[in-house]
Amino acid sequence: MTNSSFLLFLHISAFLIFCISFSSAAFEEDRKIYIAYLGSLPDGDYTPTSHHFSLLQALLKQSSVEKYLIRSYRRSFNGFAVKLTDEEAKKLASFKGVVSVFPNQVYHLQTTRSWDFMGFNQTAKRNATAESNVIIGVIDSGIWPESDSFSDEGFGPPPKKWKGSCNGGKNFTCNNKLIGAQVYITNSARDTEGHGSHTASTAAGNHIQNASFYGLAEGTARGGVPSARIAAYKVCSVDGCTSETVLAGFDDAIADGVDLLTVSLGGGSSEFYMDAVAIGAFHAAEKGILVVQSAGNSGTPQSVGGVAPWILSVAASTTDRLFIDRVVLGNGKTLTGFSVNSFSLNRTKVPLVDGRDCFEDLNRTLVKNKIVLCDGMDSLQNAQNASALGSVTQTTLQNVSFVVPLPATALSTDDYDYVQSYLNSTKQPVADLLKSETIEDSWAPIVAEFSLRGPNGIVPDILKPDISAPGVDILAAFSPVAPPSETETDKRQVKYNIMSGTSMSCPHVAAVAAYVKTFHPDWSPSAIKSALMTTASPMDPSKTPDAEFGYGSGHVNPVKAINPGLVYDNAEGDNIRFLCSIGYSEKNIRAISGTNSSCPKSSSKTLPRDFNYPTLTAAVKYGESVTVNFQRTVTNVGVATSTYNATIASDSKLEVKVIPQVLSFKTLWEKKSFNVTVKGKALGGMSMASASLTWSDGTHNVRSPIVVHTY
Ligand SMILES: *[C@@H]1O[C@H](CO)[C@@H](O)[C@H](O)[C@H]1NC(C)=O
Ligand SMILES: *[C@@H]1O[C@H](CO)[C@@H](O)[C@H](O)[C@H]1NC(C)=O
Ligand SMILES: *[C@@H]1O[C@H](CO)[C@@H](O)[C@H](O)[C@H]1NC(C)=O
Ligand SMILES: *[C@@H]1O[C@H](CO)[C@@H](O)[C@H](O)[C@H]1NC(C)=O
Ligand SMILES: *[C@@H]1O[C@H](CO)[C@@H](O)[C@H](O)[C@H]1NC(C)=O
Ligand SMILES: *[C@@H]1O[C@H](CO)[C@@H](O)[C@H](O)[C@H]1NC(C)=O
Ligand SMILES: *[C@@H]1O[C@H](CO)[C@@H](O)[C@H](O)[C@H]1NC(C)=O
Ligand SMILES: *[C@@H]1O[C@H](CO)[C@@H](O)[C@H](O)[C@H]1NC(C)=O
Ligand SMILES: *[C@@H]1O[C@H](CO)[C@@H](O)[C@H](O)[C@H]1NC(C)=O
Ligand SMILES: *[C@@H]1O[C@H](CO)[C@@H](O)[C@H](O)[C@H]1NC(C)=O
Ligand SMILES: *[C@@H]1O[C@H](CO)[C@@H](O)[C@H](O)[C@H]1NC(C)=O
Ligand SMILES: *[C@@H]1O[C@H](CO)[C@@H](O)[C@H](O)[C@H]1NC(C)=O
Repeated sequence: MTNSSFLLFLHISAFLIFCISFSSAAFEEDRKIYIAYLGSLPDGDYTPTSHHFSLLQALLKQSSVEKYLIRSYRRSFNGFAVKLTDEEAKKLASFKGVVSVFPNQVYHLQTTRSWDFMGFNQTAKRNATAESNVIIGVIDSGIWPESDSFSDEGFGPPPKKWKGSCNGGKNFTCNNKLIGAQVYITNSARDTEGHGSHTASTAAGNHIQNASFYGLAEGTARGGVPSARIAAYKVCSVDGCTSETVLAGFDDAIADGVDLLTVSLGGGSSEFYMDAVAIGAFHAAEKGILVVQSAGNSGTPQSVGGVAPWILSVAASTTDRLFIDRVVLGNGKTLTGFSVNSFSLNRTKVPLVDGRDCFEDLNRTLVKNKIVLCDGMDSLQNAQNASALGSVTQTTLQNVSFVVPLPATALSTDDYDYVQSYLNSTKQPVADLLKSETIEDSWAPIVAEFSLRGPNGIVPDILKPDISAPGVDILAAFSPVAPPSETETDKRQVKYNIMSGTSMSCPHVAAVAAYVKTFHPDWSPSAIKSALMTTASPMDPSKTPDAEFGYGSGHVNPVKAINPGLVYDNAEGDNIRFLCSIGYSEKNIRAISGTNSSCPKSSSKTLPRDFNYPTLTAAVKYGESVTVNFQRTVTNVGVATSTYNATIASDSKLEVKVIPQVLSFKTLWEKKSFNVTVKGKALGGMSMASASLTWSDGTHNVRSPIVVHTY
């Protein structure tokens, strides 16, 4: 089994249906869905929809164009989704007022011990009044409104600033906790996947005592900001999600007045002007809304998601709780595997048979009431369908456990081979499979193997992912109509389920951002983001071989994040200047911002590495000695009169100087600039060296990793 098949396992339904809908679209004269983006909404008297119709009538030279128009965006930005041939798309791009036309991309959806593990226990200081004024927008697969996690007991009416509504379809009611819902795919915002309910409850679900998955992981399930409100935007279904629906979610959420958006989906990284999440998040940031996005799940380098600097991109790491289970062979040998196995067999010495890859139809007579050996986790559905009593499989992923539909475990390849040779060499091989148990993992946190790695494939001078948070085996609310193991043959219904992915770490970070906002309602998205990143706990590079490319600035620390001391804030226009600095044409910059902004002449000399970001990263040439300068500006948000000293931690590869080494502030919101120079010997190909800069006044430690890499 390969690494990625485990993750396909998480997303398999989305893949299947996408293929079906894609082939049926091909019947229609090879028309595909394109997004026509018209930029910002003009002021004054303007009706977007009639403009969209007239553009299409002119393009298609016919009056009835309704059947091609999929959707209009008209609340937070201007544009529409439409079925076009490639030719027509090209032509539309040249029309006056059309900023860009790009193909509809497919996105994939990518406890609770986790909060305590982060040092964010139930005694943490809170402002319940401010928290109940925070609205978290969840762009996902919908929500299960009747879940206890979303009950509105004790909640007053929605905050006054809320401008959204409840359009969840038939038999869907909102309440004072779940204050809004919109649906762009299927006809109900009801979550039939479980994913959206899981992410929403991780961010802002109520305290639920005695939550567990069949007694596993029992405890209080709670969101990071349990008093906050939730608005659900259903952009994904079993049919997957695409640019067209994702943009629709952003269009409404921004206009509805959410404070933050958590977006646990992605489609790899693409240029910002073709990326619905980058475009939506750009408009959100301009309106003061921070967008938190999952980094992605395929574990490979350079395809990390959420790479725009106005997005907070989240990696997934382990907590101190591991789910393991044991197989006891007839020869007395006990092996330990990874899975969330809620079943007790109530039988011992069950016959063991070899099912090989188990992908073909299994011989029912052979496997019935036996434990079948299957090469991959993704064949468990076949084993169950053929009436096997249990299954032993293998995985290359360590320290992550997936829910299984029947008694089953996943062994390391070596242990799996051992079972196979036991089976080969024994006349009547038998085994016992025990229910999962949880054990303490003193190694945590380490970045999960599946979590996507940097460097940033679009802007190598911006470190991505930005931060790491718990994303392995997280217990949270689920949809009772979705199979907990995501296999069709699993007929169990649960209110709480255990899931893994950067999809799970993303809402943890969104909740911490919301928590910071309750103490600092006037902070910009970049200030909140900086607060989270500079206070993150350093992670151990010896346990994550990819170091900063795995965890960014480190492991999010909610308690420290509310009091960062200094922030790396962005000024108005910084994002546009950044796009100029990476050499985007004015056309492409307009395609992202939707405004007629042009690049200031001076910006041609600005380097992307000088963007005022809380991490310092430079891509350098292979084989050339390193000399890099970074410019940064910090804003004092701690104590009015304060003095910060710079401290450098570096391996021997880099020599780092900070000028000046001391920053003295007299007032709050005062800004001070400094330069950081990094020198070092030439790096090899595809390699990195890192250091860190910490500004400290004795109370606040404002830490930024410094990464120099070749790629
Ligand atoms: C709760 O967290 C705080 C701060 O992280 C810590 O000082 C305190 O000991 C914790 N309390 C419990 C009961 O774990
Ligand atoms: C809590 O937040 C509210 C609203 O932002 C604010 O008026 C109040 O002063 C805060 N209370 C405390 C104790 O910080
Ligand atoms: C509404 O949905 C809930 C949850 O699926 C279901 O239990 C209930 O029967 C539905 N009611 C109606 C009138 O369809
Ligand atoms: C939780 O479980 C414990 C022990 O099983 C029980 O005493 C308690 O009443 C339960 N609490 C709730 C809220 O169900
Ligand atoms: C094992 O016994 C328990 C308790 O009687 C029962 O709930 C469970 O379904 C049984 N498991 C199997 C696999 O039959
Ligand atoms: C299925 O397994 C049974 C029992 O081992 C065997 O007798 C039978 O020949 C097998 N059938 C096929 C089609 O391989
Ligand atoms: C179960 O097996 C039957 C017979 O081989 C097959 O028709 C059916 O599609 C299978 N169902 C699932 C969910 O795999
Ligand atoms: C899994 O955890 C163990 C310690 O619990 C550690 O030794 C091992 O390196 C980890 N494996 C991976 C791939 O993270
Ligand atoms: C077990 O036997 C099968 C053939 O029956 C062979 O393909 C496999 O390699 C053997 N495995 C081990 C570990 O001996
Ligand atoms: C940009 O400027 C052109 C010409 O000045 C104007 O026609 C167009 O409407 C403007 N577009 C936006 C999005 O402001
Ligand atoms: C940082 O370096 C730039 C370019 O060399 C220079 O213009 C600027 O004055 C320096 N800033 C500080 C605070 O030293
Ligand atoms: C900063 O450096 C100065 C001079 O080197 C020293 O006196 C002071 O104690 C330092 N402050 C902190 C907070 O480390």
